[in-house]
Amino acid sequence: MRSLANSHIFREVKPDVFAHTMHSSVLDTGKPIEEILENPEAKHDGTRGLAAFYEFDDLAKASTVLVENMIDPKTAFSDSPVQAPIQRAFKHNLTLYEWYELPENVYRRRRFGIGMTGLAAMRGNEILSEFDWTVFPKGSVVVDVGGGFGASAKFLATHAPHVNIIIQDKPEVTAAGIQAWKGHSPDLLESKRVVFQSHDFFDPQPVKQPAGFILKNIIHNWGDSYSLEILTHLRKAASPDTKLFIVGAILQYLCPSSNDSESAPEPLLPSYGAHGEHQYMLDMAMMTLFNAREHTTDSLSALLRKAGWEIDAIRGALQGVQLTVASPIVSDN
Ligand SMILES: C[S@@+](CC[C@H](N)C(=O)[O-])C[C@H]1O[C@@H](n2cnc3c(N)ncnc32)[C@H](O)[C@@H]1O
Repeated sequence: MRSLANSHIFREVKPDVFAHTMHSSVLDTGKPIEEILENPEAKHDGTRGLAAFYEFDDLAKASTVLVENMIDPKTAFSDSPVQAPIQRAFKHNLTLYEWYELPENVYRRRRFGIGMTGLAAMRGNEILSEFDWTVFPKGSVVVDVGGGFGASAKFLATHAPHVNIIIQDKPEVTAAGIQAWKGHSPDLLESKRVVFQSHDFFDPQPVKQPAGFILKNIIHNWGDSYSLEILTHLRKAASPDTKLFIVGAILQYLCPSSNDSESAPEPLLPSYGAHGEHQYMLDMAMMTLFNAREHTTDSLSALLRKAGWEIDAIRGALQGVQLTVASPIVSDN
């Protein structure tokens, strides 16, 4: 406790008595201890999700073998989602999501889902309003690829009511998404302004030449060779006018760069030091869980160019969520 209190996570109010601080409060579910003890599996149900996020013990355990994974020639240069530190630590060869499906991982699966909701709340869909959707004619189609239960679509359906949205995901996710939308927005489903479609993003994209594709929190879950495949399928289905919207965090450099307008003044590090740590921890988390990474502007731009896209604009504050808008590279010949 004192080690944490020394970093302002809890405070020692009198000898051997500790109280919460603003920092430690995110570790609290807000539930009475009796309620948690009565039903431990439901500990995080109905909470804000941040306590669940910070309790990912599988991530903490897997990070202890990160170095081992990085120096083992069998895994050192792999970006396979089944050769990451998490598989080494827990001795299996399933992807993270397949592993969560095992009966013994019920608690972990529930906690992960709730933790992601907490993270999503920090990375709001409002960032989509940074694009001027009025440039798309009425009835334009936007495809949210790997759109989950349709959180981005829900925001967009209100923000840009002239746009029709297709939410693509795995069959089990779209089935759950349809149930959720029947509850909160049945009119949008009935009018077909919002449609769910089962689709694996490693297969050719079935929606041809839409106005836009959204990829929110997708690219950072996949190593570059996998992300390239996803982006290439989208490029092949795009028209010269299709826009690609990538929503996610962009890593800040720790040296002078073109991001300088948002950097901290010297002698601080450009990231404000400890204040900017979250982005680099998430980068390591992506490596530990998926053999993937968060991107810098340059690595994202290089990846997009390989797939035939070029960045038009990046909006949103560094250290938060950002919206990268890209267009197809159209060759003259
Ligand atoms: C981190 S979640 C992001 C969900 C949503 N875009 C958001 O930001 O709320 C990743 C999503 O990708 C989906 N997914 C994973 N593999 C997929 C695949 N091969 N094809 C389509 N969707 C996939 C998952 O089911 C999940 O909904």
